[in-house]
Amino acid sequence: MGKIIGLVNQKGGAGKSSLTNAISHELARKGYKVLVVDYDPQGTQTMMFGFNRLSQFAGTERDITGLFEGKTVKPISVKENIDLIPASPSLREEAESGRMGKELVLANFLKGGFGKKGLADRYDFVLIDSPADSGTLTVGTVNASDYILIPTRLTFVDATGLVGTLQTVIQAITTFRLDLTLLGFIPVAYKPRLKEHNDVLASLKQTIPQILEKHPFVKVASQELFFEPVNDRIAWAEAAGKRISIREYIEKEKKGQRDILLTVERIADQIVKRTALPEKAVA
Ligand SMILES: Nc1ncnc2c1ncn2[C@@H]1O[C@H](COP(=O)(O)OP(=O)(O)OP(=O)(O)O)[C@@H](O)[C@H]1O
Ligand SMILES: [Mg+2]
Repeated sequence: MGKIIGLVNQKGGAGKSSLTNAISHELARKGYKVLVVDYDPQGTQTMMFGFNRLSQFAGTERDITGLFEGKTVKPISVKENIDLIPASPSLREEAESGRMGKELVLANFLKGGFGKKGLADRYDFVLIDSPADSGTLTVGTVNASDYILIPTRLTFVDATGLVGTLQTVIQAITTFRLDLTLLGFIPVAYKPRLKEHNDVLASLKQTIPQILEKHPFVKVASQELFFEPVNDRIAWAEAAGKRISIREYIEKEKKGQRDILLTVERIADQIVKRTALPEKAVA
């Protein structure tokens, strides 16, 4: 079964959608079959794959809200080796309904069970892009995931959001008795010469292991909790604005900035490596 990776952070603008998009393209380029699930009603990911109107999927076999009515959803083939389940604008309404098991519908769909095959069976990797909150869709993402990847910006405000996100993940693990592994944290929009960024990064590298030590049941994929930072570059917003991948944008229009692609490639390599390793518990 494909490895399911949820990208979460309850803080907005943390880099969830940008990295989901960039990493999916890198994994596909390496020949892995990838499914991207846009579990954020904002639909940023769906738009990054070139779809302008989310409402076009409403009521069709592509409508992700069907999951809340016990239906299945058919992914769209968007690129070689990449399929997408697009977002729906009414995703939040559906998710916040009183329905029993609403936090589990995505997990059941992807992982299967009770005689049904899960959709993840058809892929090597599934990446879930989640909204900036700690509600049903974020908890649903955690529930559906084998691995949790947490991108974060590096201001003091973002650091607080990050600790809150980690607490939500830990709470979901204990509430739903989840067997999942923390894949790591990716610092995003890093300015190497900015003191605040370096201070926040150094402080997170101290406080996060302390939090994890108090919850020894949280498995980590590597003792190296932090991935290499993704530097602050306007190219990310420009590529998103053009609805093309960061790779396509750099290769076509910004050849001088190929270092961005090298960073993304190394992060994707690490993800492949870390998801293949046997999992071990912290301390
Ligand atoms: N490394 C980077 N350097 C500079 N800007 C970046 C970088 N990565 C992402 N961005 C920009 O930051 C903004 C937020 O990124 P993104 O949409 O990926 O975050 P998000 O966590 O998905 O946000 P939301 O919570 O709203 O879904 C976007 O405009 C994006 O283009
Ligand atoms: Mg997003």
